Amino acid sequence: MSRVDLAELDFFSPEVQECPFSVYQQLQDEAPVWQMPGTNVFVVTRYNDIREIIRDPARFSSSFSALLNAGSSNEDVNAIYGQGYEMVETLLTQDPPRHRVYRNLVNKVFSNKRIEGMRDDIQAIADQLISEWIDDGEVDLLNRLCVPLPIYVIADQLGVPRSELTLLKKWSDASTSRLGRLADEEQQIQNAKDIVEFQHYFADLIDRMREHPEDNIISDLANNTIDEGRLLTKPEALGMIQQILVAGNETSTNAIAGGVVLLIENPEEQAKLRGSPELIPTAVEEILRLETPTSGMWRRATQDTEIDGVAIPEGSFLMVRFAAGNRDESVFPCAGAMQVDRENANNHMAFGQGTHFCLGAQLARTELQIAMTTLLRRTDNWALVEGKNSLKHHPNVLLRGLMDLHISFDKVS
Ligand code: HEM
Repeated sequence: MSRVDLAELDFFSPEVQECPFSVYQQLQDEAPVWQMPGTNVFVVTRYNDIREIIRDPARFSSSFSALLNAGSSNEDVNAIYGQGYEMVETLLTQDPPRHRVYRNLVNKVFSNKRIEGMRDDIQAIADQLISEWIDDGEVDLLNRLCVPLPIYVIADQLGVPRSELTLLKKWSDASTSRLGRLADEEQQIQNAKDIVEFQHYFADLIDRMREHPEDNIISDLANNTIDEGRLLTKPEALGMIQQILVAGNETSTNAIAGGVVLLIENPEEQAKLRGSPELIPTAVEEILRLETPTSGMWRRATQDTEIDGVAIPEGSFLMVRFAAGNRDESVFPCAGAMQVDRENANNHMAFGQGTHFCLGAQLARTELQIAMTTLLRRTDNWALVEGKNSLKHHPNVLLRGLMDLHISFDKVS
């Protein structure tokens, strides 16, 4: 493993993020709670340290939205955001006890019963998408399955017509790019335009659902009440919709695409899975562990404290690196290897843990299981198409996802 000079390490640079695994391991070995030189940011890479932090919201707050939505230095960008709605802390960036008020509302909206009821629809969507190219022998899998599957599912649930799916994808990409904080100025302006367009679209939809309620998530959010029986304000509802949209799209897309590459790179594991399809749920957990589409998340120290013997001053930011925790050898032996029957695969932290445990975990698992089962059943002899795959990831400090994925395959008759 090549070692880097930690005093010189630019952890969030696109180069390090493209292939971060040896850096994760070095940090775990040498500086598991590592202060980025010249900053008040600590990067945390060991499983147990991350676990301690995310299960203690009183000491480690999620009020880090200033980091995510910080005003741009570009006045044009700020002027565009001025035409939209203010951002309100609801789920991801809200702390208990207020967090519970919003979370209870969405837990109701995202009930296990609703997700179970979606299984047949998700299967039908997967089959429909695959049928479109099953006779072609080669496919842009990213854009013909991994991207559309979660978007179709969430669009149906949000009550957005299929004709507007490209808009949904555009808005989701803009929010992800804003979160990622690596966009150039031109991209920041486009992101701002797209996000404000998203806000106005859903503000109108909320009004329509208040006048004529339907059986979908927007209608539930628009009409359920919180506090002493009041409806959500527009910024509250928009904040929640934006999180559901973004969190529910990119991450699932990235998990499906990353999972297919892992299975191509590990032909023996793929063969094991084809021979024993009952392993699919465990294989999906293993994919989530190795891919960790949400590589990390922020926390803010509310007091002077310490983690693993390292002093953390009040107000410091902690980058809890789920992707590193998921490769911690003390929890997952041979952590870099894919084992579709790994006994403790579902101890991974790809969905976080504790207060902010992913709202969409059950939905994501269902989508992944159906996508993998259907792909394996209907196609075989997968291979990466030469010359069409960079196997590079979108530059983003929080989310990890492939830029392209073209595979060749045989149709199973
Ligand atoms: C493979 C797919 C997914 C991954 C890897 C993932 C990952 C995560 C992680 C790590 C967190 C915790 C963040 C923290 O601790 O600060 C989280 C929270 C969240 N996720 Fe997911 N997610 C996925 C899919 C989804 C889906 C499908 C939805 C919704 C449809 C969703 C909605 C949310 C929301 C709303 C939160 C915030 C919950 C809260 O703060 O109470 N996610 N997700």
